[in-house]
Amino acid sequence: MKTQVAIIGAGPAGLMLGHLLDLCGIDSVIIENRSKEYVIDRVRAGVLEQHVVDLMVRTGIGERLMREGLRHEGVYLAFGGTRRYINFVEHTGKAIWVYGQNEVVRDLIAAREATGRPLHFEAETVVVEGVDSPHPSIRYFHEGETHTLHADFVAGCDGFHGISRPMFPADLLRGFDRVYPFAWLGILAHAAPSSEELVYSLHERGFALFSMRTPQITRLYLQCATDDDIENWPDDRIWSELQMRLSTSDGWKPNEGEIFQKSITPMRSFVAEPMQYKRLFLAGDAAHIVPPTGAKGLNLAVADVRVLAHSLQRYYAGEGEAALAGYSQTCLNRIWKAQRFSWWMTQMLHKQGEGVDFELRRQMAELDYVTSSKAAMTSLAENYVGLDLDVSLPRKV
Ligand code: APR
Ligand code: PHB
Repeated sequence: MKTQVAIIGAGPAGLMLGHLLDLCGIDSVIIENRSKEYVIDRVRAGVLEQHVVDLMVRTGIGERLMREGLRHEGVYLAFGGTRRYINFVEHTGKAIWVYGQNEVVRDLIAAREATGRPLHFEAETVVVEGVDSPHPSIRYFHEGETHTLHADFVAGCDGFHGISRPMFPADLLRGFDRVYPFAWLGILAHAAPSSEELVYSLHERGFALFSMRTPQITRLYLQCATDDDIENWPDDRIWSELQMRLSTSDGWKPNEGEIFQKSITPMRSFVAEPMQYKRLFLAGDAAHIVPPTGAKGLNLAVADVRVLAHSLQRYYAGEGEAALAGYSQTCLNRIWKAQRFSWWMTQMLHKQGEGVDFELRRQMAELDYVTSSKAAMTSLAENYVGLDLDVSLPRKV
């Protein structure tokens, strides 16, 4: 079997790469070790930057997003019992969209299936060979047999725990890591969202976030301990903690309803450099992780594969290896800015430990400043809606 680009992983990065390459007339095979249901149902964040929305619409996969996605023009920051609004459109001319990552994945899978190009679920990548030569190959196990796929390039879109990053020579790859001393407990509830916009709150009991999925479903998060157990959190305790941390003196509070999903997610920042080793490229969570406070994970993954698809298009158009040389640095310049923003939002909004009164006062002052200075609001807004991405859309062939 032969293809041009072998893609490992069918998360947002791998699926979007396959979609963009298809539009450029470049063949790919996507290999995913989980089942289709697992990949779709996996609960993840749900904020799309304007560049992702524009990309989906302009490449023909934005129809449901336009119908069901919720456009948001700003965000509330809550502290000291009050909510303050930052208007993104006023400060940047751009907005963000709330549309679950699972919906993005569902749309990408449907688009892929419509092209007839291969997308293999429950196919475990066993070994990748020859990425340091012009003829890499992948051996994978699917439907009871081992297959060998020959490709020009391998795209490692296999997430943080994938096999691609460990294939880089140890003396080439450098990892930059920060683990936070807290985690997020997230729930989905059958409750109508009680605010039009997201509310990020710093309370002396810790961080909480009000978000949503649909006009009937509220998504909520609260800061908890890294070693906390979901068994410690019966529904009553979750609601009482959320009400304490989120309710504001203007009478606003989240609506309650039946909780139908709850889980705890650790928080970390991580960047791998470089993102290319000869014929092997990393994209998305395989190369970097952000804490979810800035809602950047999916958006960064999409930005990477836009740069990668554009580079590969130039390669196949006759520019050769030179077209690929800038991939890593182009992505990393933007990734580090998103890392900075995600870290900054995280440190500003989370309780740093017990007996940290100085920190809490400092954070409250920062929130007061950020929600009252035009310059600070513009800075938050332009990072939240996403920094510019200077890559042209794929030319349809
Ligand atoms: N063979 C095949 N597939 C693999 C392998 C392997 N050896 N290892 C991992 N995978 C698959 C995983 O099952 C997963 O579906 O790779 C996929 C990686 O997808 P994601 O983890 O969703 O990563 P990515 O596509 O980069 O998307 C980034 O996901 O973690 C969130 O917040 C993050 O929104 C961001 C997005
Ligand atoms: C979500 O809706 O899941 C969400 C929103 C904003 C974040 C993180 C997650 O910062």
